[in-house]
Amino acid sequence: MTYRELSAQALAEQDYDSFLTELQKSLTDGRRDPNDVVRDTLFDIYLRGSQPEIENLSLGARVVFHNFDPRNITTEPEYYTDIDAKLYAERKPFIWLWQMFDHSPLGQNALLAHRFRRMLAPLIFRSVGENFKCWQFVEWSFGYNLSFGNNVVIHRNVLLDDRGGIDIGDDVSLSDYVNIYSHSHDVYDIHKVLTPPTRIGNGVRITYHATVLAGTHVGDHAMVGTSAVVTRDVEPYHIVVGSPAKTVKVKDPNSMA
Ligand SMILES: CC(C)(COP(=O)(O)OP(=O)(O)OC[C@H]1O[C@@H](n2cnc3c(N)ncnc32)[C@H](O)[C@@H]1OP(=O)(O)O)[C@@H](O)C(=O)NCCC(=O)NCCS
Repeated sequence: MTYRELSAQALAEQDYDSFLTELQKSLTDGRRDPNDVVRDTLFDIYLRGSQPEIENLSLGARVVFHNFDPRNITTEPEYYTDIDAKLYAERKPFIWLWQMFDHSPLGQNALLAHRFRRMLAPLIFRSVGENFKCWQFVEWSFGYNLSFGNNVVIHRNVLLDDRGGIDIGDDVSLSDYVNIYSHSHDVYDIHKVLTPPTRIGNGVRITYHATVLAGTHVGDHAMVGTSAVVTRDVEPYHIVVGSPAKTVKVKDPNSMA
């Protein structure tokens, strides 16, 4: 899908670029602990200005201050016993920065936020192709089990549960409120977690509010209709709708743009 080219005023563009360049450098050049960089960046974004002595802050302000530091917070996936704690810890500062940025006054500004998320994505995910475009409030589980091909677009409020692994191909579009899972629980024993990987082929479109269950493969150029629940593999070029999702049409490969 083609998007309009949009930009801010010259000074804002310059400041956005400088902010991202400096931030990327300080997160990756090994001179500072990324946790410290994230803490200071979030302080700057949310509260602006230089940091006060913590002893001079009210108790509530101290709690806010602690919350900016990835070492003082936990996320839901950290409680899962199948987590690779080392792999998660390596990317946790970047994950926290992404999520807190999204909830900050800056998160809604796509001119800055697309570049911001594109800068962080390779630090978090298993692999990321070219032209990765991600809108606000996207969440995932581990990050290190998630890979994206080229030209992937992810819209608002998408959940990518990569506990068992999710592979997303090239030219894929995930619409608002899509959920893709790669874990489930045994029906008799909730403690038994099943983590079959889920694959989304090239050219797939998963439309608004659809859910793809763990272990399924959505074949190349398939389309999942609004609110569908994919419980079984989807054949290439098939359009599926409903719950459980069933084929209603098959695209003609010769008519593809
Ligand atoms: C999947 C979709 C594209 C199918 O559109 P289509 O090819 O024009 O199909 P039709 O409208 O001819 O529908 C075929 C049948 O499936 C039904 N159907 C279509 N979408 C459905 C849905 N999401 N859930 C349940 N049934 C659906 C139709 O009622 C019709 O049933 P009928 O034959 O009994 O009348 C469309 O329903 C859809 O979900 N679009 C989402 C919007 C979109 O494109 N989002 C992309 C954002 S990036």
